[in-house]
Amino acid sequence: MLEIKDSVAVITGGSGGIGRAVADYWVHNGGKVVIAARTEEVLAEAKAEIEASDGDVVTVVCDVTREDDCAKLADTAIEKFGKINLVAPFAGIIKDGLMVSPDRETGKVTRKMTFDQFQAVIDTNLTGTFLTVRECAERMINHNCRGLICLVSSTGSLGTAGQLNYSSTKAAMSVMPKVITAEFFRRGLAPQIRCVAIAPGYVGTPMVKGMNQKVLEKILGQVPIGRLVDPDEVASLVGELYRNEAIAGEVFFIHGGLRQGSGG
Ligand SMILES: NC(=O)c1ccc[n+]([C@@H]2O[C@H](COP(=O)([O-])OP(=O)(O)OC[C@H]3O[C@@H](n4cnc5c(N)ncnc54)[C@H](O)[C@@H]3O)[C@@H](O)[C@H]2O)c1
Repeated sequence: MLEIKDSVAVITGGSGGIGRAVADYWVHNGGKVVIAARTEEVLAEAKAEIEASDGDVVTVVCDVTREDDCAKLADTAIEKFGKINLVAPFAGIIKDGLMVSPDRETGKVTRKMTFDQFQAVIDTNLTGTFLTVRECAERMINHNCRGLICLVSSTGSLGTAGQLNYSSTKAAMSVMPKVITAEFFRRGLAPQIRCVAIAPGYVGTPMVKGMNQKVLEKILGQVPIGRLVDPDEVASLVGELYRNEAIAGEVFFIHGGLRQGSGG
């Protein structure tokens, strides 16, 4: 079993939402965190709050769609703390809409998911994760670090209408742990660095609270536990996946019993 105490977590999207919950969980359990976000302002606020609870935290301004930013993030973790043990690439966005939307009366398409709407989600959720994970994994190997790469998929990976862009990126997150684990196995690295994904349902973060509230209410009616998953509950799952070194290459759902398409 791995100990979180004195371990180092690199977390993108770490200033808010699930990323911030993981950061809080990590320092609460004696770990250190490197949190990344796009603006100094949100990072300064998160840093002050984490330090107020005696947490050891370093912040890095990083747009995960930029290769040089992701390299800087991984380098900073090594420079400041000498190692990386958890990689949590949790920066993510949604830009929902139907692929093609025909008018109810004329039957003719009046709106489409735009190229930018599609590409922006791919760039952040998929390419951003690839860049973060590749840069951190390189440093983990070169500095002989032991730990976990924990990707974030979603129940959306099973296919959600209005989220062709988002669902596609989250389906990719479900296959990446298998590919990365197999590659590490080939090189004898699998016992040292494991890779998994978590797949949350609807979690109480700004991403979900910003949704159409009527749609959200309808969705919650299909969640057997009858409420949003708490970000702290997701953080606790990440902690357990980190500690337990028998866990590798899999996707772990945390959705309060939700089964999409079956009414719960
Ligand atoms: N909230 C949910 O219900 C839910 C469910 C399943 C999966 N997820 C996934 O969990 C992850 C975190 O989601 P959340 O709910 O905490 O959302 P959130 O919006 O609260 O947090 C996402 C963070 O990512 C940051 N971000 C966006 N683009 C970025 C970029 N290019 N570079 C760096 N940072 C960037 C945002 O500023 C924000 O702080 C996302 O990948 C999301 O898809 C969320």
